[in-house]
Amino acid sequence: MIRDVPSHPQTFSLSSMVYGTWRLLDDGPSPQDINRRLNRCVELGVTAIDTAEIYGLYQVEEALGNAMALSPGLRNKLSLITKAGIYVPGAHSPTRKVGHYDATAAQLSASVERSLRLLRCEQVELFLVHRPDWLTSIDDTARGLNQLVQEGKIRSAGVSNYSASQFAALNSRMEVPLFTNQVEFHLLHMDPIVDGCFDQCQQEQVRPMAWSPLAGGRLFDPNESAARRLAEVAAGMSYRYGGATLEQLAYAWVMSHPSRPYPIIGTNRIERIESAVKASSIRLEREDWYALWVAAQGRHVP
Ligand SMILES: NC(=O)c1ccc[n+]([C@@H]2O[C@H](COP(=O)([O-])OP(=O)(O)OC[C@H]3O[C@@H](n4cnc5c(N)ncnc54)[C@H](OP(=O)(O)O)[C@@H]3O)[C@@H](O)[C@H]2O)c1
Repeated sequence: MIRDVPSHPQTFSLSSMVYGTWRLLDDGPSPQDINRRLNRCVELGVTAIDTAEIYGLYQVEEALGNAMALSPGLRNKLSLITKAGIYVPGAHSPTRKVGHYDATAAQLSASVERSLRLLRCEQVELFLVHRPDWLTSIDDTARGLNQLVQEGKIRSAGVSNYSASQFAALNSRMEVPLFTNQVEFHLLHMDPIVDGCFDQCQQEQVRPMAWSPLAGGRLFDPNESAARRLAEVAAGMSYRYGGATLEQLAYAWVMSHPSRPYPIIGTNRIERIESAVKASSIRLEREDWYALWVAAQGRHVP
C-alpha cells in the first residue's frame, strides 16, 4: 500500500504514484478488464488516474467512463487527471487535415465538456494542457483554465511538456497556481533535472509528474547499451533493497529527486502495477542514485 504525500498547499494531493492510460486499449481489454485494473489500483493506493483526450485516438476516456460505471462509487475513490490540446487527423475527424495544437480558451472548454461526458462525471480533479500551443497567447489559455476552475468543471489546472519559461509565463496569469508540469523523466531522459524544470517546481512548491518512468519499456531492451549497463548495476545493488528489480529501482530513482515527481505507471499488467508500488518504500542511498545516473549516462559525473 502506498501513502499519500501532502502537496501543493492551494489544492490537494495525489497518490504518490499515478496510473497512466495511454496504452490502455493496446491489448483490447473489455470494460470488465479495465474495471478490475482500476479497482486493484485503488486497493494498492494508486488512486490518481492519468488520461488524455487524444489517448487511444480519442477513445480511452470513454473506455474509462464505461469501466468506472461498472462499480458504483469507484469514480469517487479516484482522482481523475485528463489533458487536451492535441488534434490529429484520422477517421475520427475527417475534416482535419494536419496535426496541430490548440490551447485557446474556447478549445479547452469544448474539450473538457467532452471529457466530462465521456468520463461520466461532473468534474475532473486535474486538467492539463497537453503541449504548449505556440499560436495561443498565455492570456487566452489562462482565461480558459481560470474559467474552468471557476465553473467547477476542473478542480485544478496544470500543464504538460512546458519549458520552465513557458510554465512561468502561464502561471503569472493564473488565479490558482498551476498544479503541476507533467514531463518526460526517467533514467534514459534526465533533461528536467538540468533544464530548469525541476528547479522551478521546487521554487514554486509544485510536484512534477514523470511520464514514461521506465522509458516506455526501453529500460529492458538488451539492444540499448545504457539499459544493459543499468541492468548490471541494478543487479549489484538489489540485495540492499530487499531484492528490488531494475523496474522498482528505476521508479525509486525518479521519486528520489527532491522535487518529488509523481511517476506515472504505464503497464497494462496488474502484476506489474503490484510490483511498481513496492518502489514507493525504497529509499535509495545517495551513492546508489548516482551509480544509476553513471550507468545510464555511460560516464562519471563531471
Ligand atoms: N504528457 C505526455 O505527453 C505523456 C506522454 C507519454 C506518456 N504519458 C503518461 O505516462 C504514462 C506512462 O507512460 P509509459 O506507458 O510510456 O510508461 P512506462 O512505464 O515507461 O512504459 C510502459 C511500457 O513498458 C513496458 N514494461 C513495463 N515493465 C516492463 C518490464 N519489466 N519489462 C518489459 N517491458 C515493461 C510496458 O509493457 P506491459 O504493458 O506489457 O507491461 C509498456 O509497454 C502514460 O500512460 C500516460 O498516462 C504522458
